[in-house]
Amino acid sequence: MNIIIVNGPNLNLLGEREPEIYGSESLSEVNSWIENHEVCANLSLEFFQSNSEGAIIDFIHSKRRDIDCLIINPGALTHYSYALRDAIVATQLKAIEVHLSDIHNRENFRKISVIKSVCLAQYYGEGKQGYITAIKHILEKK
Ligand code: DQA
Repeated sequence: MNIIIVNGPNLNLLGEREPEIYGSESLSEVNSWIENHEVCANLSLEFFQSNSEGAIIDFIHSKRRDIDCLIINPGALTHYSYALRDAIVATQLKAIEVHLSDIHNRENFRKISVIKSVCLAQYYGEGKQGYITAIKHILEKK
């Protein structure tokens, strides 16, 4: 099973960015923790991060025929990117939305996700474990 794990704007600064909210580990530390997690033993994972909406959409388009699932933490794009939403619909990919923080208990604008209804599930507030929860969701439903 081929899965891409995509992180959006500002997630390259994990570890230094608001560590009290997002934790003290860097994105590469989080990604290697995911990669080495037992649930990923038989999976082919590819990681991608960009601060650019267009680069994320181009990447998803380029992978659309090769993957079984997209796991995405779109960062702030979550709250307003209809282009990202359209990309998920256009590619017909199975997608799962993940957030490190509890977006439902922060500022009001974070409660809105324009991609939620085109994803199979939304996981939030579990920190890096949320990516594993998303992978387990895919494995259980396949
Ligand atoms: C985030 C939550 C978003 O509101 C925020 O813009 C992020 C990170 C999270 O992982 O908790 O960049 O997606």
